[in-house]
Amino acid sequence: MDRSPATRSRFLSVLDGTIQDPPPLWMMRQAGRYLPEYRAVRAEAGDFLTLCYTPRLAAEVTLQPIRRYGFDAAIIFSDILVIPHALGTGLRFEVGEGPRLTPVADRAALSALSQTLDPAKVGPVYEAIADVRAQLSPETALIGFCGAPWTVATYMVAGQGTDDQAPARLLALREPELFQELIDRLVDASITHLSGQVEAGADAVQIFDTWAGVLDPASFERWCAEPLRRIVAGLRERHPYVRIIAFPKGATLEALEQIADVGIDGIGLDWSADRRAARQRLSDDVALQGNLDPLRLIAGGAALEEEVERIRADFDGVRHIFNLGHGIRPETPLEHVEKFVELVRRVR
Ligand code: CP3
Repeated sequence: MDRSPATRSRFLSVLDGTIQDPPPLWMMRQAGRYLPEYRAVRAEAGDFLTLCYTPRLAAEVTLQPIRRYGFDAAIIFSDILVIPHALGTGLRFEVGEGPRLTPVADRAALSALSQTLDPAKVGPVYEAIADVRAQLSPETALIGFCGAPWTVATYMVAGQGTDDQAPARLLALREPELFQELIDRLVDASITHLSGQVEAGADAVQIFDTWAGVLDPASFERWCAEPLRRIVAGLRERHPYVRIIAFPKGATLEALEQIADVGIDGIGLDWSADRRAARQRLSDDVALQGNLDPLRLIAGGAALEEEVERIRADFDGVRHIFNLGHGIRPETPLEHVEKFVELVRRVR
């Protein structure tokens, strides 16, 4: 896609069509509990949602991993559950247990959702983005994000995270029309929220579909691929040149092929993806992002070094953004992250 003026960001240039060697690098969940400076700000905020909704603090933790490791992109500190919260769903985070939401699993709860996003919830996200963009150098890109409708719906239906998202899968099978309405609401909300982030200064957006891997092919088309197609079209109507990355975690190669064809600029691969097959079969129009197993970053040593080398070799000669195959875990040693950054940036 034609975008001008030429960017100074290596991350954006890969999404725009250039191969970079060494590849640009960022990590999913890079602002988080593995960083002592994050834990300090998190303690100051008191709870997770206060941190998300206080622009000064959200901006500060967004910048922390950039200062420490000089990643090529920052991702705004927020959460995918901000959208249901801004639609009126009750939300709290239990320490050690993850999110708790007021379930939206019937007609009455769906009808009670707001038609618009509460500015008191999404406004602070945009403020934090503008603040971060003002503090970042032009070489560092800023990523906005949302959850894919399917993944967000799984939390809304169950009211919490589950192992296999059976509550949402069952609702989609038993009451497809009701579930379709929920997905449609989330498509609209996602377009609005991503547009708000782009207008505030995000250079690219990533759509996290953490639970894409639990659906059969027909359900995947209906609940993952089709809604994503509509988000991409809706966002491009307002912002034709925005770069869009999709991360359909756990998707089969066939499912990845479908996602690569919806009009996105980059696709995130989790650690189970067959890199050679992905590079052969996925459209040349998308850059490939990924895909180190976050556990290798905890283990360190040969487990880390060998796989970084394999990933670089497998993606040699294609547009690649180095990342993990899922978010970094809190128990990851800082020395291993340091080593990882050095290995990815080593000139071969
Ligand atoms: O990547 C980043 O650094 C940006 C911030 C970000 C967070 N969550 C911060 C966060 C992003 C991009 C997310 C996305 C997110 N949130 C996803 C999709 C990606 C993925 O990891 O699968 C999902 C499913 C959520 C929902 C969510 N938020 C859960 C299930 C939990 C609890 C589990 C956990 O890791 O504790 C959260 C909380 C959360 N979101 C934390 C952070 C840093 C930890 C909360 C804390 O600091 O106490």
